Amino acid sequence: MTPAENGRLAGIPPEAFPAAARRIMARCDELARVTAGDGQITRVYLSPEHARVNRLAAEWMREVGMSTRLDAAGNQLGLLPAVDPDAPVLMIGSHLDTVIDAGRFDGILGVLMAIEIVRLLRVPGGDDRIWYSPFGFGIEVAAFSDEEGTRFGKALLGSSAIAGDWDDEWWRLADADGVTLREAYREFGLDPGRVGEAARTSEQLVGYLEAHIEQGPELDRRGEPLAVVSSIASARRFQITVEGEARHAGGTPYDMRRDALLGASEAALAVERICSSEHHIIGTVGQLEAFPGAVNVVPGEARFSIDLRGEFDGARDAVWERLSRDLDDIMGRRGLRWRPREVHSAPAVFCDPLLQDVVRAGIGSTLPSASEDPLTLFSPAGHDGMAMGSVTPVGMLFLRNPDGISHHPDEAVSAADVAIGLRALAEAVAHRGAESGS
Ligand code: GLV
Ligand code: MN
Ligand code: MN
Repeated sequence: MTPAENGRLAGIPPEAFPAAARRIMARCDELARVTAGDGQITRVYLSPEHARVNRLAAEWMREVGMSTRLDAAGNQLGLLPAVDPDAPVLMIGSHLDTVIDAGRFDGILGVLMAIEIVRLLRVPGGDDRIWYSPFGFGIEVAAFSDEEGTRFGKALLGSSAIAGDWDDEWWRLADADGVTLREAYREFGLDPGRVGEAARTSEQLVGYLEAHIEQGPELDRRGEPLAVVSSIASARRFQITVEGEARHAGGTPYDMRRDALLGASEAALAVERICSSEHHIIGTVGQLEAFPGAVNVVPGEARFSIDLRGEFDGARDAVWERLSRDLDDIMGRRGLRWRPREVHSAPAVFCDPLLQDVVRAGIGSTLPSASEDPLTLFSPAGHDGMAMGSVTPVGMLFLRNPDGISHHPDEAVSAADVAIGLRALAEAVAHRGAESGS
């Protein structure tokens, strides 16, 4: 029997899942050691660490019989072909880049789970050194190069290139050292002029599936290991500059001060006040700097970020309008000027009903009773599916993250949950295979 038979897994011994989960946990530890940070996990787009994790991922992809390639945007890809070389592929994956001082599972887990899915589902060809997908589609594992946007501010650069949504304006983005995206491409050995070659068409893809730790506490609170994702929040990110006047900290009376940092601080409180009063809108100020940054000078300039998310694009945009009016008031009252620069925008993505169903069926197969209904969650966290959604149907599986902490070194997932998650994901892929009639 092949794993695809009747859309169910067959011939896979139950102990294969915990064994694969143990390998994944060990490899998460191995990838965590590839970092630019001293005692921290920090791995950004087009860095030497990015090249090193790509090489490791490629090695592990080849180990399970995939052919590998680095695409024109630095995404590491592995292919388990269908018997028909012209068949489209189901892409499964996540990202290998991180935030600053990250945990070891955000993104990484999804890439490593995808590789193990290939190990679990592949079938031998005539020559036993060649492996095939048992379905009418190939399986392509994607280790996306930039989901977080840590280095250039704009997130989802790797998956946007694959979705064919590259914007040439992005070449001018610069990192904290002033290195532009275009220069970073060249330093990494990529040709900016060829980024379009990373793009896929809808005809080449059956869909995109991703497993990811939940980056909040819902699963942990409910005592469930897995959830189906219904949609991914829309996002906008801004860099705000506030201009006031730098003056002597001792000699300047309060009625003469135009303190940019106080304006920015009041703005940060407005972000909290306005966003927390709206359903499924989340706003965060994660960066705040004062200039000239001297202890005895009233700050003449402040720069801060706003990360805005919402379940629906319209509600998110309405909140931004409201926030902008509040910032006009705050800055006007304090004699300050402000200007926003939008560095990232991505629409909400609704997971494909069919892929939600196959993920639900996959989770269902791991539940003790067929009458139990798997949990469905909306994702306020961003994922590569936000970019992939413009070219192909997207489905996601969430795994429990104890305490829900993420973007932090304490981020966690248990090997037992990874084993259950692998089973659910393998079942989901098999169900998708059955839908295609294979
Ligand atoms: C990515 O993890 C994001 O949601 O910012
Ligand atoms: Mn993240
Ligand atoms: Mn992630």
